[in-house]
Amino acid sequence: MTETSQDTMDPQQQAIAEEFDRYNESYDDAVNRAISFSGQKVESFTRAKADDLLRTIASHFDSPRQLSLLDVGCGIGNYHPLLAPAVGSVSGVDVSVACIAKATERNPTVSYTAYDGDHLPYPDKQFDVTFCICVLHHVPPERWPRFVSEMRRVTRAGGLVVVYEHNPMNPLTRKVVRDCAFDRDAVLLTMAQTRQLLTAAGCTNVSTRSILTLPPMGGFIEKLDGLLAKLPFGSQYRTEGRVG
Ligand SMILES: C[S@@+](CC[C@H](N)C(=O)[O-])C[C@H]1O[C@@H](n2cnc3c(N)ncnc32)[C@H](O)[C@@H]1O
Repeated sequence: MTETSQDTMDPQQQAIAEEFDRYNESYDDAVNRAISFSGQKVESFTRAKADDLLRTIASHFDSPRQLSLLDVGCGIGNYHPLLAPAVGSVSGVDVSVACIAKATERNPTVSYTAYDGDHLPYPDKQFDVTFCICVLHHVPPERWPRFVSEMRRVTRAGGLVVVYEHNPMNPLTRKVVRDCAFDRDAVLLTMAQTRQLLTAAGCTNVSTRSILTLPPMGGFIEKLDGLLAKLPFGSQYRTEGRVG
């Protein structure tokens, strides 16, 4: 892990990083408390989104097992045990040094780096797929364009940028955000806003699908959820765009 240059961090970004530092040991507990009314645990949502991401990747590329993935705002690396066996490599980056330390302890084969939230610490066109899961709503809105441009910059031509976000159209999602201890400052993005950010960053074929309209129960329910993807009511959504 590279220690981030937190001395040069934007103060608002620093406050966000410090907030998540405090949850490096209790992140899952905080999410589980906020979603307890649903009878589901964070693991079910993680598995559903990891499966969705792997299906999305498989729909764009012939050989997922050779691809390099970057998870921006990876937190404590919850997704990586599910993703790493299915692809060539996974790297994770986050502004929270404590979360990166926890992720490193949990996933020793994944390469992790902490950074300042401004410039992703990778050369241009380094990764085949760059994604972020429930991160943008924690980034100050005026920094959203920069954040997505950086995702695009580090993705190779022909690669894929994927953003998962909470859907503000869904009342249960808004309840979870209200009840989640680390979501106090969250600013939710509409599907249209996220599509516009990817388009403005230069991504092409940008599209959005609702996910998790139904609870993450696998099997038949998951298949049914796929059929509801065009309706804008999912608890979360996925926006993807190709890099030209
Ligand atoms: C709600 S957590 C999601 C963590 C992980 N993606 C997951 O779904 O388990 C949001 C994460 O975004 C990180 N974060 C906030 N601002 C960021 C930025 N500008 N760049 C990268 N990560 C950021 C936080 O430190 C935190 O780990």
